[in-house]
Amino acid sequence: MRKQIVAGNWKMNKTYEEALSLVSEIDNMVKDEVNSQVTVIVAPPFPFLQSVGKLTQGNDLMHLAAQNMSEHESGAYTGEVSASMLKSVGVQYVIIGHSERRMYHHEDAQTLYKKLKAAIAQGITPIFCCGEPLEERDADRHFDYVGKQLHDSLSYLSNEEFDQVVVAYEPIWAIGTGRTASSQQAQEMHAYIREQLSRMFDAEAAFNTSILYGGSCNPGNARELFSQADVDGGLIGGASLKSRDFTDIIKSF
Ligand code: 13P
Repeated sequence: MRKQIVAGNWKMNKTYEEALSLVSEIDNMVKDEVNSQVTVIVAPPFPFLQSVGKLTQGNDLMHLAAQNMSEHESGAYTGEVSASMLKSVGVQYVIIGHSERRMYHHEDAQTLYKKLKAAIAQGITPIFCCGEPLEERDADRHFDYVGKQLHDSLSYLSNEEFDQVVVAYEPIWAIGTGRTASSQQAQEMHAYIREQLSRMFDAEAAFNTSILYGGSCNPGNARELFSQADVDGGLIGGASLKSRDFTDIIKSF
């Protein structure tokens, strides 16, 4: 079954105290206000994962994600964090291939494939990000660009492995810019992504995959975006740092 998901990617924001108060507020609002269909995910920075996870443990709607992980299992990789470490502190989801990781940390398609495999092997659900830069959209090459990103990292997974994957479409020109994709632009890309997935994997798996939209999603535009047939939720940056805004987005289904 395709899940409705709203995930908050906190990126490199908040101190420990701030993180705990943000997640407490979200936890309380979700308990009081949210219908039980939606899977809510928070992705705090690494040092806060365990404490944030403990705070949300009693709330079945709330889930914990990491923003990144190593492609390696263990060993001499200073500064890296493995899937099994994440698993051992209760992480259920991990964001893989965010455009900021691809851009600033030079993560290529092969590395992302290895990260996907490593997460799935630990039973952690990857949220695989794709999305084109502005120049590709302006040149009308956005479908090919995103299709290649999907093919280059996902197509080597088995059907069983792919069953674990969530996809997020985040056009780079919409991230943190206040310029969101129109609901029509989101829908046509999400439908294209689903069609590409049905070519790589079995059609039922593609139909059941949750495809999230990310990029300047806020309480004012979430309802319109989430009402599209192939938009199954959102990956939220800036607006996930404010409990009221994040909860209102969750309530937009
Ligand atoms: P904004 O919601 O701040 O545009 O960020 C989107 C994003 O990159 C989520 O991963």
